[in-house]
Amino acid sequence: PGSREEDESGKGLRIYDPAFQNTAVAQSKITYINGDTGVLRYRGYPIEQLAEKSTYLEVAYLLIYGELPSKDQFMNFSHEVMHHTFVHFNVTQLMRNFNYDAHPMGLFISGIAAMSTFHPDANPALAGSDLFIRDDKVRNKQIFRLLGKTPTLAAMAYRHRIGRSYNPPQNNLSYTENFLYMLDRLSEENYKPNPKLSKALDVLFILHADHELNCSTAAMRHIGSSLVDPYSAISGASAALYGPLHGGANEAVLRMLEEIGSADKVPGFLEEVKQRRRKLFGFGHRVYKNYDPRAKIIRNIAYEVFDVCGRESLIDVAVELEKAALEDEYFVKRKLYPNVDFYSGLIYKAMGFPTDMFPVLFAIPRVAGWLAHWKESLEDKESKIWRPRQVYVGESVRSYIPLEHRE
Ligand code: ACO
Repeated sequence: PGSREEDESGKGLRIYDPAFQNTAVAQSKITYINGDTGVLRYRGYPIEQLAEKSTYLEVAYLLIYGELPSKDQFMNFSHEVMHHTFVHFNVTQLMRNFNYDAHPMGLFISGIAAMSTFHPDANPALAGSDLFIRDDKVRNKQIFRLLGKTPTLAAMAYRHRIGRSYNPPQNNLSYTENFLYMLDRLSEENYKPNPKLSKALDVLFILHADHELNCSTAAMRHIGSSLVDPYSAISGASAALYGPLHGGANEAVLRMLEEIGSADKVPGFLEEVKQRRRKLFGFGHRVYKNYDPRAKIIRNIAYEVFDVCGRESLIDVAVELEKAALEDEYFVKRKLYPNVDFYSGLIYKAMGFPTDMFPVLFAIPRVAGWLAHWKESLEDKESKIWRPRQVYVGESVRSYIPLEHRE
């Protein structure tokens, strides 16, 4: 469609591409996806190898700095991240003021936005807009703080939701162990969460750490392109993730499975989807037109977690849904496969997380990906403020009619 008003400003070719379905807006070295063959690599390393052999913090380093760390680099990085886990007392006070039944994602987003007011070295208005562009040290400080403090904010959101006091972080634990500790324990000495569960959560964190220019990462780059501080930008990216078509889908899947209730109800539900009265949450992807490689790994983790926590009976509904959809012409023709969110909620449920915590569990590890893209875009000498164009389809020029003369 052409615009009614010709607008000759701007440079180069202008294309109309709603929802960026075919537009590349950045060059990136971070994550490679082949949606047709179901391949995902971080900095060239296959996701399957990282999930099996690495840890979340090591993957965070890889995503942000481009290489796997040496032993010394890793020790230093872990130390820095784990020594930035405490949040300011006033942020704690802020979190306490939400309604007891507020959605934890609302607390998480607000907590991160509030952090921008506590770190003037990242505040463009106070520090000069380009301090974190010029100075690696200042930039790294924000990276350590954001990686360190976001699990603490997430744990606070959870503890607030269940009406319990907050547990201070334990910096001698690993990243995921400390997160589980903050959720669960008061102050048992030498407490260590079940190693199988912390390992499972760590793998889930690796799988969720980055996924190139998905909705929230594009939001991160977009907001970051104005050179605002990274706390405000990550708060905005988290808001994009919250939506049910993106990171909120894991919560929507669980609610859908609960509503279906049993495997024998699956055919009736799929009929409703085909009649477009329902959406099959956890299925379909803008890029994957094949099995999402993360969903395969997550399905296997589910059974490992069930060994520890007990079998989650809704898995039967999920397995039946997947089987029936993959044999159904409607889904086959549209290349709709399970995505990362299809099985993750069942794991979180088996581990005892309330359903509304699921998007938060997605957001924590995605912070590494957002930071990697933020850093990459700041280092790109050609990057500019993002400002897409539109095709104007509104009225042509009109003369104002005073109120008393209008019909
Ligand atoms: N259930 C039923 N039909 C679907 C689904 C679904 N989950 N996903 C896509 N379709 C259908 C569409 O109706 C459309 O059919 P049509 O061509 O006959 O009109 C066709 O498949 C193509 O779908 P689009 O909507 O064009 O795909 P798009 O790339 O815009 O959307 C999205 C991708 C948002 C992920 C979509 O598949 C969806 O809504 N899935 C459910 C929500 C979900 O699980 N989101 C998580 C994605 S992964 C992540 O963000 C971490």
